[in-house]
Amino acid sequence: MPDSKIKAILIGAGQRGAQSYAPYALQHPDELQFVAVAEPNALRRAAFAQQHHIPKEYQFESWEELLQKPALGEAALVCTQDWQHTAPAVAAMRAGYHVLLEKPMSNLSADCRTLLEVSRQSGQQLHICHVLRYTPHFNKMRELVQSGVLGQIVQVEQRENVSFWHMAHSYVRGNWRNSQESSPMILAKCCHDLDILPWVLGQNPVSLASSGSLMHFRPENAPAGAPQRCLDGCPAADTCPYYAPHIYLEMSPFWNSVSDTSLGFNRWATHAYTENPALIRALSVFVPSLKQIPNYGGWPLTVLAQNPTAQDIAEALQTGPYGRCVYHCDNDVVDQQVVLMQMEDGASVTLTMHGHSHHEHRSTRIEGSHGRLLAEFGNGGSRITIDEHRTDWHVEYITSKVESDNGAGHGGGDLSLVASFLQSIRSGDTATALQGTREALQAHLLAFAAEESRLTGKFIQKERWI
Ligand SMILES: NC(=O)c1ccc[n+]([C@@H]2O[C@H](COP(=O)([O-])OP(=O)(O)OC[C@H]3O[C@@H](n4cnc5c(N)ncnc54)[C@H](O)[C@@H]3O)[C@@H](O)[C@H]2O)c1
Repeated sequence: MPDSKIKAILIGAGQRGAQSYAPYALQHPDELQFVAVAEPNALRRAAFAQQHHIPKEYQFESWEELLQKPALGEAALVCTQDWQHTAPAVAAMRAGYHVLLEKPMSNLSADCRTLLEVSRQSGQQLHICHVLRYTPHFNKMRELVQSGVLGQIVQVEQRENVSFWHMAHSYVRGNWRNSQESSPMILAKCCHDLDILPWVLGQNPVSLASSGSLMHFRPENAPAGAPQRCLDGCPAADTCPYYAPHIYLEMSPFWNSVSDTSLGFNRWATHAYTENPALIRALSVFVPSLKQIPNYGGWPLTVLAQNPTAQDIAEALQTGPYGRCVYHCDNDVVDQQVVLMQMEDGASVTLTMHGHSHHEHRSTRIEGSHGRLLAEFGNGGSRITIDEHRTDWHVEYITSKVESDNGAGHGGGDLSLVASFLQSIRSGDTATALQGTREALQAHLLAFAAEESRLTGKFIQKERWI
């Protein structure tokens, strides 16, 4: 068993690897240290190496080079793009690393099965980044449902409400716009929900059906006269919600979202900034922490440029993919999809995903024979309410992650996931880790089955995905 500080390598120092998970090592240097990085983008590689004090000889341009070396530590974080997960994760396990692998495991179902098999054969742990399992919100929901307070679970509605601007950023203009190049939307966005639902309910689906389509982000819905790029004199510049400078330069949709998902002073300050930026700039002279709002340079701007300035962003909008008109992109992933599942006990579950929400959040409604659960995750904080039928007892649980916004993405799930991965390595409990990988595999196979059902119009029985 390794000592309490685990040495790790990072494969893919992009948004997730460098910004969502690696900060754990900076916050807990006694638990985690990055000793090598593989990243083809020289700016990202250098920035990560500098932050984590990685010497030149342990900085690599690709995972192939890095994994040729004997194992440099116990853990590998694989945070490359969807289609680049299987090969480095398999190679890392075979090289003797326990692996934390970004979701989706792979965009191919056969590869997902291979990943589980390699973990089983090699004895190396494989943890999949199903971050929702590590949030206070979904843990509380699971505890409540499994306490029996709702009686027999009869009907469940889960909604993944993707905000209009996040949809445009990631799934119309961005990396996950094309299902052949990346993943079908139901896999990319909802493998989390397909993981969390059986986990919360304590039972698995036995059949499913799905329907959905790309309705809105198509050429026929473009405003009259809209050019290929927003900055080429678009006549709808003042009215289109997807006008790129509105999203990336004014950034009001982003700050509205931050405000909607924050609490207390942060909520007030970010909201005030959307209404009166000059006020927040003036106040930041006296309250220096406010400077992080006008000086913000994190996601989604870091997708457009490394250490982005306003000029970098303006240039990226002139020439890069994020300046394209949303009605004239090469996107094909759906912007609305519903999955209907029947569970072992007979309950019906609907999972609705759509990309036209005003606020980014998930919501859940669980109807039981003895009570009802309603939950909101990431909309003005997060909360769960229970109403009991017989007694009319009503209780509300606040499940927001409040202590720190620093890197605590996904309602606190990102960093808690890293903590759990490290703990699992320290415990050496391979059997529990393998069970977790099996459950992650099921979530992915459900997503592939849902996509098959959407495309074929057929109801699918569990024998097809087991
Ligand atoms: N768990 C979640 O909730 C969650 C959320 C968002 C994204 N994701 C997933 O995380 C993954 C990464 O997403 P991202 O936004 O960080 O992408 P990204 O493009 O910012 O990062 C991927 C990095 O991998 C690097 N890379 C490419 N080829 C490589 C190679 N041969 N060796 C080493 N590195 C290489 C790229 O240069 C890039 O910096 C994706 O699969 C995505 O679907 C998961």
